Amino acid sequence: MRCITVCVAVAALGVRASLVRRDDAHHPETPDTAPNLPIIPSVPFLGNDAMPSSPPSYPSPNTTTNGWWEHPVKRARKDVHAMSLDDLATLVTGSGYGNGPCVGNIRPIPSIDFPGLCLQDGPTGLRGVDYATAFPPGITVAGTFSKELMRRRGTAIGREFRGKGANVYLGPMVNLMRAPAAGRNWEGFGADPYLNGEAAFQTVLGVQNERVQATVKHYLANQQEHFRNTGSSNLDERTEREVYLHPFMRAIQAGVVSVMPGYNFVNNSWMTQNSALLNDRLKRELKFQGYTVSDWGAQHSGVASALAGLDMTMPGGTSCCDTNLTSFWGANLTQAVTNGSVPLSRVQDMATRILAGYYFVRQDEGYLKPNFNFMDIDDPATNEHVDVMADHDVISREISTAAIALLKNANATLPLHKPKKIALIGSDAGPFALGLNYYPDNIGWPYGALSMGWGSGATMNSYLVTAYEAIQQRARRDHTAINWSFDDFDYVNARKVANYSDVAAVFVTSLSGEGYGTVPNSKPVDKAANMGDRNNITLWNGGEKLIQEVAAINNNTIVVVHAVGPVLMEEWIEHPNVTAVLWAHLPGSESGTAVADVLYGDYNPSGRLPYTIAKQRRDYPAEVLYNSDAPQPQINFTEGLLIDHRHFDAKDIEPRFEFGFGLSYTRFNYSALDVEFIGDYGHNWNHKWGHHKAPDGLPSWLFEPAVRVSFTVRNTGDMDGHEVPQVYLRFPNDSGEPPKVLREFDRVWIPRGDTVHVHHTLSYYDLSVWSIPHQQWRRSPGTYEILVGASSRDIRLRHSLL
Ligand code: NOJ
Repeated sequence: MRCITVCVAVAALGVRASLVRRDDAHHPETPDTAPNLPIIPSVPFLGNDAMPSSPPSYPSPNTTTNGWWEHPVKRARKDVHAMSLDDLATLVTGSGYGNGPCVGNIRPIPSIDFPGLCLQDGPTGLRGVDYATAFPPGITVAGTFSKELMRRRGTAIGREFRGKGANVYLGPMVNLMRAPAAGRNWEGFGADPYLNGEAAFQTVLGVQNERVQATVKHYLANQQEHFRNTGSSNLDERTEREVYLHPFMRAIQAGVVSVMPGYNFVNNSWMTQNSALLNDRLKRELKFQGYTVSDWGAQHSGVASALAGLDMTMPGGTSCCDTNLTSFWGANLTQAVTNGSVPLSRVQDMATRILAGYYFVRQDEGYLKPNFNFMDIDDPATNEHVDVMADHDVISREISTAAIALLKNANATLPLHKPKKIALIGSDAGPFALGLNYYPDNIGWPYGALSMGWGSGATMNSYLVTAYEAIQQRARRDHTAINWSFDDFDYVNARKVANYSDVAAVFVTSLSGEGYGTVPNSKPVDKAANMGDRNNITLWNGGEKLIQEVAAINNNTIVVVHAVGPVLMEEWIEHPNVTAVLWAHLPGSESGTAVADVLYGDYNPSGRLPYTIAKQRRDYPAEVLYNSDAPQPQINFTEGLLIDHRHFDAKDIEPRFEFGFGLSYTRFNYSALDVEFIGDYGHNWNHKWGHHKAPDGLPSWLFEPAVRVSFTVRNTGDMDGHEVPQVYLRFPNDSGEPPKVLREFDRVWIPRGDTVHVHHTLSYYDLSVWSIPHQQWRRSPGTYEILVGASSRDIRLRHSLL
């Protein structure tokens, strides 16, 4: 209670924010426990007053019965009033790592007939569980630029979670690719806020329509693995809202049940107790009605986190991930309420939010109990080995195939037509000799077909179709002579096999993962361990040399890249014998099938790059902070709004391949762009704000349609195919915005010779910038321009908008 008084008073007096920040980051004078319990001190604040700070925002807003949430919240409130304080504390505190079948568990509460909750990773499907699908990761579905595939992937993931009795899907992961080397980029949806936002929106709808709770993570600006528990992401309010918050807002608009505050600090306030971003941004401004759940071991205080808006602590103990049962909450939360440090109403609101989420997706209606044991999947007593894979190989294959971006296709090398002799070169084309799932969470993958990165976002492959397997089947059918060389370092054999063939496909990789695992790259280059983040954005296992060796001998060298993110290609991309390049992301289990479908033209490639591939690493706007002696390293987002392609445009840097780029086996012609204001509030919506000030949260009119964009695309080539028209917006010159920002996209199917009409609407929000002085989304004065193109640099149509 004291904190609330202090914070409000300090804010009102306009006292230096740094003073406030101390209060926000921890509560040194407020007891977390009553004297009869062991004292668990909050982790001390390690920064100093000169650092950027996060303003206080108290008290924590309660749930409301608005819209979709009316019934769930009403039911939850009824339960909560019948619950004892001990029950409330049980509901908001994880049972402790290992105490339950899932990676996170909430105990049952018999008094309200609540069976408990099973929370399970992760973004790519059910982690560490058998008879489940290893779906293509986030970066791959982002590469499809297809809203439909994003949704269908979410649906299939949701069905698998429901079939295994897991209540909560710990995904989607929407941290933008700010620094290309950041370890967990592959779990998310690439480098653009709108692409991420749409993928988040579709994933949440897909998962939750299957009655599974989704958890969008990691809130907020959790952008690298080095210093993952101590680093502070420092960013201004406009960058925060326009770039990093946007995907979370879209997830909330899809009705996401929970949000996971990450390990990091933002503006020197730990995310699990950052009242500005939990109480203010999420619960007030975005009107989030669900619950916040700490990342595993990310909570560092009892009272401060409760008051700042945290609603559930995971895995329950004060650290992750061991069987430590001492908790900041549990019995300590009960004590904190009893001694007046935390209002009962705050804990009741935590519980309301958690139960509302449970009712929101109707998990009270005959939902299965977990039928697996993540902690020991071989234990016959606790694993039923339920097969939930259904026909999800179909959607996985479609996504992995649709995501493949054809980056180079000299002399129409592809598609292949019954080649006489083909060589597959590189370990990624074949299976890993020691078997599937040899490395738990994929930590340690050295070579063999790369299906995903490492960490909690990895899933076990129930099967893995390699290129070796898929292309052999074609070879048999076509009477193609096939050979291979799977040792990445045996250049003599690679040359021999390449020399014999009229097509040589070289398979290369680049890998990264979550910071709790460290993986060395193989000989002979860069043996240094990668602590989650990549040390280099080059190929693993000396891939560049392998390509060069093969291209030196074979004038039809096709390169297939499986990678977590951008890779520098300058050493080989312009080699005249490198005739084609397939950018195949991380494919999950349908690795070879996807590549073969595109190579042989069964699938006309339509994938687009969800990030920029630069010519040199220093062309990117941001880097991982690798070294710091500071107890609380400062990660300053000085590039502001200029993430990825926005930076390349603003600084006029030529990329190797731009954001949104990908070739097709056919050609498309764009025409007839028509743009008109259709909204009720005209050209200038600033007057709409009236007296509506930020304390009310964002108004619904902001998201109403303002502008309709229509155009036609014709397939003028010889093959049916998908095109991915992208709608960019150019803000008025003085707006402070990048030269262009993505605002709409989708993949459309166009049979050869046909024309399709494409329509999109943009909302007032889409046309607005965040004004820090007004604390509102506002129209920028001047002329806007709508740009429609086949990539961020291949703009085909333009139209001004006054
Ligand atoms: C830590 C990771 O950051 C998070 O993404 C994951 O859901 C939890 N561990 C649980 O495994």
